Amino acid sequence: MTNATNAKHCVLAHACNLANTTSCTRFCPHFIATDARLKAANVPREYRLLTLSNSPVRASEPTVYKTLDAYVKTFIRAFNEPSEPIKSVYLYSPTPGNGKTTTAIALLHEYLIRHYVGSLQRGRQPEQVPVYFLDLNDFQARFNLATMTNDEAELERFKAELQRCKNVPFLVADDLGVRDATPAFRGYLHALINHRVTNGLPSVYTSNLPIEELARVFDARLYDRVRDICIVLPFGGESKRGLRR
Ligand SMILES: Nc1ncnc2c1ncn2[C@@H]1O[C@H](COP(=O)(O)OP(=O)(O)OP(=O)(O)O)[C@@H](O)[C@H]1O
Ligand SMILES: [Mg+2]
Repeated sequence: MTNATNAKHCVLAHACNLANTTSCTRFCPHFIATDARLKAANVPREYRLLTLSNSPVRASEPTVYKTLDAYVKTFIRAFNEPSEPIKSVYLYSPTPGNGKTTTAIALLHEYLIRHYVGSLQRGRQPEQVPVYFLDLNDFQARFNLATMTNDEAELERFKAELQRCKNVPFLVADDLGVRDATPAFRGYLHALINHRVTNGLPSVYTSNLPIEELARVFDARLYDRVRDICIVLPFGGESKRGLRR
């Protein structure tokens, strides 16, 4: 073994027999292919390469992680039984900084790994953008600003991103319901969630609100759509923000 191994940069490392061998380099076609998909996924840098097994949240949320260990197995099952949809997941706690976004991104990476490997094993081309991270606060702020300033180009980018989020096989919708949505933004959010639920596409939501509160903050229709075929997982820990991983 040489120190040329690329394993610590590769999301496939723990699923790959060649990780930590001399064949594990940045020229590996599977590294290049998954790295491109990671770059397209819009995940913030600080959460790079997180998985359920290396997540720092696992130790403080053992019950949630036990459920999620079983949940990710359904990603592969869905290849063989397309009639069994992958459920959505709602991660919530009123306390900030206790690992909801971290866990949602770990799930996104778990999906990417299984989608990539599972597609190749079945002789299929993996999707170019199988996973996407949507920061709803940022999305709403950008939409409001573009509307206020009549910025047509930015509104077009907003709509293109919305379209991508509607159809991506696995979406993380981060921070649902933390800030009052304008009626226009709420309309787009409805359309997004409605489209995904109707088409059996799984989403991971994070929120500081119990799922029932969505009926009050948004409306009964959105609440109904979000909880459709959805595993609800409350987080109990204190804020760990600012602690070193
Ligand atoms: N249970 C935990 N153990 C160790 N570190 C943690 C834990 N939970 C969160 N962290 C760290 O704290 C920081 C914030 O975590 P994260 O963004 O996942 O929190 P969150 O629950 O999404 O917060 P918010 O409710 O404000 O969105 C990250 O750097 C993460 O690694
Ligand atoms: Mg968060």
